[in-house]
Amino acid sequence: MHIPTLRTLVLFCLVVPPLIASPPPDLVQCVDGTSNCTMSNAYGAFPDRSTCHGSQVVYPSSEEELLRVVARAAASKTKMKAVTRFSHSIPKLACPGGSDGILISTQNLNRVVSVDTTRMQITIESGMTLKDLIEAAAEANLALPYAPYWYGLTIGGLLSTGAHGSSLWGKGSAVHEYVIGMRVVTPACAAQTFAVIRALGIGDPDLDAAKVSLGVLGVISQVTLQLQPMFKRSITFSTRDDTDLAEQAVNFAYQHEFADIAWNPGHGKVVYRLDDRMPVNVSGEGVYNFIGFRPTATAAILANRLAEEVFEAARNANGKCLDSQVITSTVSLAWYGLTNNGRNITGYPVIGYQNKMQASGGCAFGREDLLLTACPWDPRIKGSFFHQTAVSIPLERVKEFILDLQKLRDLNPKALCGLELYDGILMRYVKASSAYLGKHSDMIDFDITYYRSRNPATPRLYEDFIEEIEQIALFKYNGLPHWGKNRNIAFNGVIKKYLKSRDFLRVKDRYDPDGLFSSEWSDQILGLAGSVIVLKERCALEGLCICSEDLHCAPDKGYYCRPGKVYTDARVCMRVSS
Ligand SMILES: Cc1cc2nc3c(=O)[nH]c(=O)nc-3n(C[C@H](O)[C@H](O)[C@H](O)COP(=O)(O)OP(=O)(O)OC[C@H]3O[C@@H](n4cnc5c(N)ncnc54)[C@H](O)[C@@H]3O)c2cc1C
Ligand SMILES: *[C@@H]1O[C@H](CO)[C@@H](O)[C@H](O)[C@H]1NC(C)=O
Ligand SMILES: *[C@@H]1O[C@H](CO)[C@@H](O)[C@H](O)[C@H]1NC(C)=O
Ligand SMILES: *[C@@H]1O[C@H](CO)[C@@H](O)[C@H](O)[C@H]1NC(C)=O
Repeated sequence: MHIPTLRTLVLFCLVVPPLIASPPPDLVQCVDGTSNCTMSNAYGAFPDRSTCHGSQVVYPSSEEELLRVVARAAASKTKMKAVTRFSHSIPKLACPGGSDGILISTQNLNRVVSVDTTRMQITIESGMTLKDLIEAAAEANLALPYAPYWYGLTIGGLLSTGAHGSSLWGKGSAVHEYVIGMRVVTPACAAQTFAVIRALGIGDPDLDAAKVSLGVLGVISQVTLQLQPMFKRSITFSTRDDTDLAEQAVNFAYQHEFADIAWNPGHGKVVYRLDDRMPVNVSGEGVYNFIGFRPTATAAILANRLAEEVFEAARNANGKCLDSQVITSTVSLAWYGLTNNGRNITGYPVIGYQNKMQASGGCAFGREDLLLTACPWDPRIKGSFFHQTAVSIPLERVKEFILDLQKLRDLNPKALCGLELYDGILMRYVKASSAYLGKHSDMIDFDITYYRSRNPATPRLYEDFIEEIEQIALFKYNGLPHWGKNRNIAFNGVIKKYLKSRDFLRVKDRYDPDGLFSSEWSDQILGLAGSVIVLKERCALEGLCICSEDLHCAPDKGYYCRPGKVYTDARVCMRVSS
């Protein structure tokens, strides 16, 4: 997820001095103190727009307290789930099963347990944010080599969904590749007082289940990570046209350790990130404070959304294209948020310490204040609101995949300008993993963000193009959806794509035989019960189904279910003018 706010920047950010951001709202809301609670994600909306319910929220602040909480729930066979401070996953992963489960917040499990500077290892509690982890490592002159770009995630949550940065070097970009130990609290039999702590280390095959666990094995209490000596990085962004993108996409991974690619398909432009490791004695105090993750003025967020809504309502694709052009050039003129010293910039390359360059996210860490500034997606503002499709394609099929997308784009380039308002198609490298629910081969993750109406019955401008891209990625190329992003259809039959899913389910049966950490959603995606598909009128507009009849689209608004243009097996909601 990248720049919901780029337009905003054009309007205000460059002229308004930085303001203090208001932190995101409390996600768990209880009618009665800590009981009778509801919860949503950071965007205030799961894909099906429902909320989750729990009978109670608890805030353990030590492993012993956590053990007692799990034991108490397990003794009465009550459902439960770990919930995090910000809940940034889009799918309904964070909800306990049923409506009277227990929400176990990891908000107060946020400390460093120990740092071993000789071995370069850190042990932290699972609710710690990526921001705090990066800072704690840096204090010991150590670095987490690869990480998501947004530091408002917790270590427990990002591991559970397989989150990653971008690299095919070393063990690759997924944080779970650097896990060397974990302590997980799971239910147990009465003889074991209903809960146990399972300490997993390197060589324990269960670690391959626990590293990426979707929250269904129990509550991760602590994580030990293998770090590296602190290093610097040198970043240059370089823009070119996309004629040879299909050829370059794979090669580029081997040219720069932290390479990624942002593709603006409507304008046929590609921003290559030339990003390499440097020794610490190279001079440079650079900071990468990504523009889309900064505290953003509320008025700007609203203006941004309004403009997008006007273009949508008027079906003005040219307007979106003009807008995206202004935005991309302004962002590039603003150096994407890079500075040579935290304040200003003289030019590329920008060289700085890893901890100042690897991730950002100031908008999530503000002061309780008036809502002067916030994250663009803060649900209290009703600003940015979007769908996200993030799917990984095996390297050997990436070329063909990009050529398909270009063929589709060439039919009507302006149909894809909407993606550029959200930083285009972000391509990042992820390496094969031994984690049972990790990637089975080296892949490129293609990540797109696009307009979502607040009214679930309203179709989007050229939604057929984006639905076709989604289906090409998922079904023609058998891509793997990011567990923490995507719409329901991405997870239809997903578990069949994982060769080691049986191994995962065996561990789950051992750790949590009664499925107390399972929910309707986790049972659906793991292929245990039910389906992620919700068939109803207009279901395809929200990605709750793939249309098979016109009613799944919006025939009253001229959107009918039709085959794809490049991938004719796709079924998409297409506007057919009469
Ligand atoms: C602005 C933004 C940028 C992003 N950038 C990236 C990126 O660069 N790369 C990337 O890969 N992803 C990215 N993501 C997606 C992100 O990685 C996932 O959404 C991530 O899972 C969210 O972590 P969280 O801490 O919010 O966990 P949540 O969404 O709250 O939880 C996810 C799951 O983990 C479980 N869980 C959480 N803690 C524990 C625990 N202690 N024990 C057991 N289970 C637990 C929960 O029960 C739930 O099932 C981004 C998201 C946002 C909003
Ligand atoms: C929870 O709160 C809702 C809304 O106030 C109320 O209708 C419901 O009866 C409450 N449930 C319980 C179990 O107290
Ligand atoms: C940095 O350190 C290395 C090894 O210690 C040395 O060879 C190199 O010359 C140094 N570079 C600079 C720019 O000081
Ligand atoms: C950049 O910032 C430094 C330190 O704040 C300052 O000394 C320098 O004059 C600034 N340069 C420009 C071009 O603004």
